[in-house]
This record gives sequence, C-alpha cells and structure tokens, in this order.
Amino acid sequence: MEKSRTKAVAVVGAQWGDEGKGKVVDYIASSFDCVARYAGGHNAGHTVIFDNHRFVLQLIPSGILRPGKKAVIGPATVVDPAALVNELTNLKKSGIEVRGRLFLSNRAHLIFPYHREMDRAAESARGAAKIGTTSRGIGPAYEDKMARRGIRVCDLLDPERFRQKLERVIAEKNAISTAAYGHPLETEGLAEQYLELAAHLRGLVADTAVLLNETLDRGESVLFEGAQGTMLDIDHGTYPYVTSSNSISGGATAGLGVAPTRVTGVVGVTKAYTTRVGSGPFPTEMVDPDAKAVRERGNEFGAVTGRPRRCGWLDLVVLRYAKMLNGIDSLVVTKLDVFDEQPEIKVCTGYRVGGQLISEMPPDVDILSQVEPEYRTLPGWQKPTPGIRDVKDLPSAARDYLNFISEQLQVEIGMISTGPERDATIVPRGTKLASWL
Ligand code: GDP
Ligand code: IMO
Ligand code: MG
Repeated sequence: MEKSRTKAVAVVGAQWGDEGKGKVVDYIASSFDCVARYAGGHNAGHTVIFDNHRFVLQLIPSGILRPGKKAVIGPATVVDPAALVNELTNLKKSGIEVRGRLFLSNRAHLIFPYHREMDRAAESARGAAKIGTTSRGIGPAYEDKMARRGIRVCDLLDPERFRQKLERVIAEKNAISTAAYGHPLETEGLAEQYLELAAHLRGLVADTAVLLNETLDRGESVLFEGAQGTMLDIDHGTYPYVTSSNSISGGATAGLGVAPTRVTGVVGVTKAYTTRVGSGPFPTEMVDPDAKAVRERGNEFGAVTGRPRRCGWLDLVVLRYAKMLNGIDSLVVTKLDVFDEQPEIKVCTGYRVGGQLISEMPPDVDILSQVEPEYRTLPGWQKPTPGIRDVKDLPSAARDYLNFISEQLQVEIGMISTGPERDATIVPRGTKLASWL
C-alpha cells in the first residue's frame, strides 16, 4: 500500500546550537498538528517570545505554546524527571495547559542525579581539555543507555521493578565511583524521590512511535524539533566537543521511530553569524571589538546557563556540510538585525590548511583548530531591519548578503528573522518553506 506523504518536516540547527530553533519552530508550528522533540535533553534552551512573554523551553517542544497542538518527547531523548516537572509547573503558571496534548515516550531514558555528578566529575578531570558541557548529566545518561544499563520511563511506572533496577545500577555505579573517585554516590532516598516525580508524569506516558505514525496515517502533519546543532552531533560534529546524541535530521527518524520515507522536508536554521558555547575549535571566531559588539547586540548569553556565547563570522564550510548531512531544503537566517550597525561583514568561504584550500570539514579537531578561514568581505547595510515584513523592503546590502549565502550554498532562504519576537519574521513568497505554512 502507498505510504502516506502527509507533511512531516524537520527543523534542525545548522551550526553549534542556539540558532533560534525555538523561534522558528514556534512560527512554523501554527501550520502543523503535532511537534516532536527527537534528541537531547534539558541541555537545550529554546526561546520563544510573543505578546511580551518570554518562554525558554528545555525538553518540552516549543510547539506546546500553540494552543491545541500536540507535542511529543521522543524515545531518544534523555529525561530528568525533576527538570521536566519543573518545566510543566512553569508552563502551568503561564496558563499553558498541556494535559491531553503532551506525550512522553515510555522508552526515553532517565537522567539521575548521579549522571550530573559524573558529568561534573568528568569535566573537572579533563582540566583544560574540558568540553564545557551544560553539566545536566546528558552525556553520562547516554553512556548508560549505550552500555545497556539505562533506566527508562516505562521502568518508572512499576515501583517494584523500578526499585530493583535502580538498586542494581547503583551497586554497579558505586563500585565504579569508589574506584575512580574514592567515594560512593549519594543515592539516599533516590527511589522514593523518583517515584514521587513519576506520579506527575504518569498521565503523559505513551508509545510515541505509534502515536506519531497514527497521527501521520490520519493525515495530520508533524514537525520534528531539533535540539543542539549539526556541529554538536555525536557522529558528524566537532568530536569530542559535541553533545551525546544525533542532532542532525536523521536523528528524527531513528529517534522517533518515524521512517525516513515519511519525512517530506528539512529546514535548517542558521544565524547571520555563528556562535558556540563551551570549548572546541571555532575557525571563524571573532575578536574584539566585533565579538563584543555582536555579543551585546545579539544578547549572546546562554538561554539556560547564562554563559556568554563565543561569537564568529558566518562559516559557509560548516553550512555546506550541514546542508549535505541534513538534506536541508530551505534555510532560515535568524538574527539579521544584529548586523544592522555593522560597517562590514565577513563570510568564510573556505579553509586553508598549510596553504592548501580544503572544502571539507576536517574530522580532527586539532586540524580544525589550525585552519585559516578564507573570507569574503561584504558591505553592511547600517539601517534597521526589525519591523520589515517583505524581503523587497530590506536594505539592498542585506538582500545581497542573503543572496550571497543562498548562491554559495545553492539553497533557498525560506525565512528571515529580524528580531526575537514571533512577528519579526519575513517569509519570502514562492519558497518551499512558504508552501509548508
Ligand atoms: P535555540 O536553542 O536554537 O532555540 O536558540 P536560543 O533560544 O537558545 O537562542 C537564540 C536567541 O536569539 C534567543 O534569545 C532568541 O530570543 C533570540 N533570537 C531569535 N531570533 C532572533 C532574531 O532574529 N534577532 C534577535 N535579535 N534575536 C533573536
Ligand atoms: P540548543 O537546543 C548550544 C553544547 C554544550 C557543550 C556541548 C556538550 O539550545 O541549541 P552537553 O551538556 O550536551 O553534554 O554539552 O554541547 N550544547 C549546546 N550548545 N545549544 C544547545 O542546545 C546545546 N546543547 C549542548 O555547551 O559545548
Ligand atoms: Mg538554545
């Protein structure tokens, strides 16, 4: 039988995260029935601003802010129940009702306090080579999943089985912790604490693969909300300075149990420049005064951790790679307004290694940290862009900048964002992205 080709679109970060996925998903979600998070955990921070409200979503898909839309937290995410309950409480305070429309996969792995401890201990042991993780326990939770000793949401629903599993895992982890750090883990009262949290989550738990496939079978559309970014992908990013899951679009299909044949489109999100938080190579990193100006104008401080983000010029080598890995059909450029006062704008078109021009991303971070970016300098527009609704009303130098990106990458620009608010958005007509709205 012919498989349904109901609209199923992935939104992915094309850089090192914080590209503005929250804003873009919130905008696009109004044209979809369901939004699903497929990877990561509360290391993500997705900001959505409308009607003078600012929301920062960590694990719950941004689509939840659109009344009546369904939202799914999939099996390949890692869930800290305390953080999720906290997020639910905050939504409730803001008058967002999630009952009956938010679903948590019964197969998602749980994050425990010992994962956070391990995250911090591993980071301090790395010293200067630290990754700069969000210290949420994300990596250690995925380690346990891969080592096949993870504890999942379904385990939490059966108190007796949960206690037994946790006891077994704690015994194993205590042996490791004592050998490595000289003390056992702090696990007093942990089972009871988690079972209490389970009471708040029980009503959300579902087989989300069945739910999503049935949603598509009924002809209802699904948006896949990526977290992190392509360069933070565990397999394709700047390893080891990455997160511990697949953030690329392929992660949506493996992660949610929705077959690749059902995905109808991929939207990549990039800033008009580049940022990254944490350590690791960053070829186009700016120096002051440009870095300072962009950080201040772009308010480049972590949505969750408050850490200052490192700022750099747009890197087309990264974006070209991201286009290929994700199969990006349409590119969204956010934060164009941050360049509104910039006299000149540099764009990296290639890397040189030992004088040789290379067009691919080197796999080795030691090489990547030594590449010399080749820059093209374009004139700035030095005019305000917020409030502009039509591409033709953008300053011509801003349009030239966008056209340059589009031509270099051979991809359409499907959306331009000129401010953090929902309505500071331009959707050029006649694009693939416009046809999905
Ligand atoms: P995400 O993790 O990809 O969802 O991105 P974050 O929410 O972590 O970071 C993006 C930041 O930029 C947030 O503070 C947004 O409110 C803000 N933002 C998004 N789009 C724009 C834009 O076009 N202009 C400006 N000035 N800010 C934006
Ligand atoms: P969103 O979805 C930016 C980075 C961390 C660190 C590395 C590993 O908001 O774009 P982890 O805690 O995941 O083990 O940290 O990955 N990182 C992010 N950077 N945006 C994110 O999410 C990130 N999630 C993780 O800073 O460098
Ligand atoms: Mg973020």
